[in-house]
Amino acid sequence: MSTARTLWPCAALPNAPLAGLTNMKVGGAAEWLLEPATPEELRDAVGAARERGMVPRILGGGANLVVADGVLPGVVIGTSRMNMIMRPQAPDHGATEALDQGLDARVAPSPIAEDPRLACWAGVTMVGLVNRMRRLGLTGLEMLAGVPGHIGGGVAMNAGGRGWEVWSAVELVRLIDPDGTFRDLPREEASPSYRNGNLGEAVVAGVVLRFGTGSVKEVGERINEYMRAKNATQPVTAASAGCVFKNPDPDASGGLSAGQLVDACGLKGRRIGAAEVSERHANFIVNAGGATATEVLALMDLVRDEVASQRGVELEFEVKRWLPGAAG
Ligand code: EPU
Repeated sequence: MSTARTLWPCAALPNAPLAGLTNMKVGGAAEWLLEPATPEELRDAVGAARERGMVPRILGGGANLVVADGVLPGVVIGTSRMNMIMRPQAPDHGATEALDQGLDARVAPSPIAEDPRLACWAGVTMVGLVNRMRRLGLTGLEMLAGVPGHIGGGVAMNAGGRGWEVWSAVELVRLIDPDGTFRDLPREEASPSYRNGNLGEAVVAGVVLRFGTGSVKEVGERINEYMRAKNATQPVTAASAGCVFKNPDPDASGGLSAGQLVDACGLKGRRIGAAEVSERHANFIVNAGGATATEVLALMDLVRDEVASQRGVELEFEVKRWLPGAAG
């Protein structure tokens, strides 16, 4: 009988429950959950899944995602074990070398003011990244404070907010193409757009980020300020998948954001089962305790339909929805 160890090139779990690995805390199980610990294991995991005719779904940090109830056929790849943040060893190292050599602990990194870059594997949490920025006095992505998820997902979807986005700090992304090979994509050859890294079917293995330098105190204060603002306006302690919808083209929506449109339709507090449109920010659906994925997905559809019929605006999903059958 074949075992997980002989089938897959990294840690693997059959029939793995996914709800606890997502921020929405709903949904069923994956037929297989693979947990690579390095970019090479991730590449091999992607290759092994594809060899078996499966398109792997990348869980990342489980933010921005609703997993349907039931069993999800195929392979899900979690990146939690790939959480290395490295300082490049020399400013004259290109970004590719920074990712290759950053792990060699025998060589001290150059002073941060000379080379304010970080090389991150895909599973670095954005919270961990912000902590490192705080400690080193790095500036440029302070607005990631309190944003859940992994940097790999943040790059893939170009996480951001009003007036900022992750790609503003990207120097290079290391990708895994569908044929299971690495490809380094420099920023100038990429074309990220609002909430989309436009990376096609490629999987993010790592990224080199370039920051500005500032005083540790001031960077820390800015991070605290972003945290305060987020806490004041978003349901940060509730289980949710973050903003459900992308902000629409202002020309089509009369300048209103997705949250403002849902709010204007009187939908705050609307529930299906234990899924609820947040009272704090209408573009969030929260799990009020024990919700099912079916309830969450139905409420998302209801909100989209209401906004279309009341306001004539077709909102586009920002959250990924993993439904059995469709690759996400
Ligand atoms: N507003 C309402 N009612 C609501 C929610 C918001 O009137 O229920 C108003 C606010 O008072 C504010 C305006 O709408 O005047 C805009 O709200 P906010 O500043 O929260 O910005 P947003 O456009 O709703 C975007 C991102 C967020 C990100 C914030 C802050 C999108 C879809 N959302 O929200 O990203 O945290 O800016 O930078 O682009 C996410 O991607 O998961 C996410 C939460």
